[in-house]
Amino acid sequence: MKLGLLAMAAVAAVVLAGCGSDDKSAVTSSGSGGATEAKSPDSLPLVAFAQANSADPWRQQFDAETKEEVGKHTSEFRFEEQPAEDDASKQIGVIETFLVKSPKVLLVSPVTVAVQSAVEKAYDAKIPVILLDRGIPGDKYTVHVGGDNVDIGRQAGEYIAKRLNGKGTVLMIQGLGGVDAADDRRNGAMESFKKYPGIKVIMGDDCKFQRLPAQNFMETFLQKGQPFDAVYAHNDEMAIGAYQAYDHAATKPKVKPIFVGIDGCQKEVVQMIKDGKLDATFRYPDPGPKGIEIAADILKGKMPTDKKVVLPTVLVTKETADQYLKDNPNLAK
Ligand code: FRU
Repeated sequence: MKLGLLAMAAVAAVVLAGCGSDDKSAVTSSGSGGATEAKSPDSLPLVAFAQANSADPWRQQFDAETKEEVGKHTSEFRFEEQPAEDDASKQIGVIETFLVKSPKVLLVSPVTVAVQSAVEKAYDAKIPVILLDRGIPGDKYTVHVGGDNVDIGRQAGEYIAKRLNGKGTVLMIQGLGGVDAADDRRNGAMESFKKYPGIKVIMGDDCKFQRLPAQNFMETFLQKGQPFDAVYAHNDEMAIGAYQAYDHAATKPKVKPIFVGIDGCQKEVVQMIKDGKLDATFRYPDPGPKGIEIAADILKGKMPTDKKVVLPTVLVTKETADQYLKDNPNLAK
């Protein structure tokens, strides 16, 4: 009997690693560190995580680091994660399904503000709610862990304006509509650009934080022959897409525009910076490990004292790229 339990615990302790774009199943992990006191995994409290998507590089790294942190707490709670392919209505369904299982802590990385009422339902049911990365309006959540997107936007705007010596046209490629991260990255940058009367901004399309839509948008934009001197994309995937379109285009500006993105989670991006293709990125820190740490504390009775935990950013340029790679050996490919 004991052997059976141990075997069950050992199997359950294996954290499922595959979380690629095709993996639509819930990821679960649980188990027990103690050899003699192995608890049935089902008797452990549930920590549930509604992830926005598990497809793009930033989320894949976020998932991997979250699971690593979960691995340190396998005797304390069961963990289930469900991605929603950046579809808000799908995520509302995920949260409602989780609520039926009465999780002791609910982590949510909202797709957009449209999931607000589902998050509030959990909070009203007295389930501690930890928001990761994107936020929702109001204050019906326990704590929000993420970067300061307004500040990142400001820094990106300042970097671009300085690189252009205060004069030029910036094409801004937008992240997913209804996401505070996109709004904040836009507003922060606009604050900086407004200080430079010589800077003009062209608002590009909503390219959903994805490479291909940004590439398509840029292809069409370049065909118009409208001059521009810099591309500010709300994330790196879109900066890569825009650069690739520029690189392959027949008609393009004579001087290579500046390309700036946000995330800094991929070796590909750092390499492109080293190669002079992209100019800079701002690290958008992964909130998963901190979120799991807070969930573990909550289960021990320690509620967070702050409503917002801000994680720091780092500017990556050609000058700092090698050091950045050394400091971050586990970047996504
Ligand atoms: C990934 C992502 C990141 C971005 C974040 C903003 O899904 O688009 O690239 O920094 O979400 O919420």
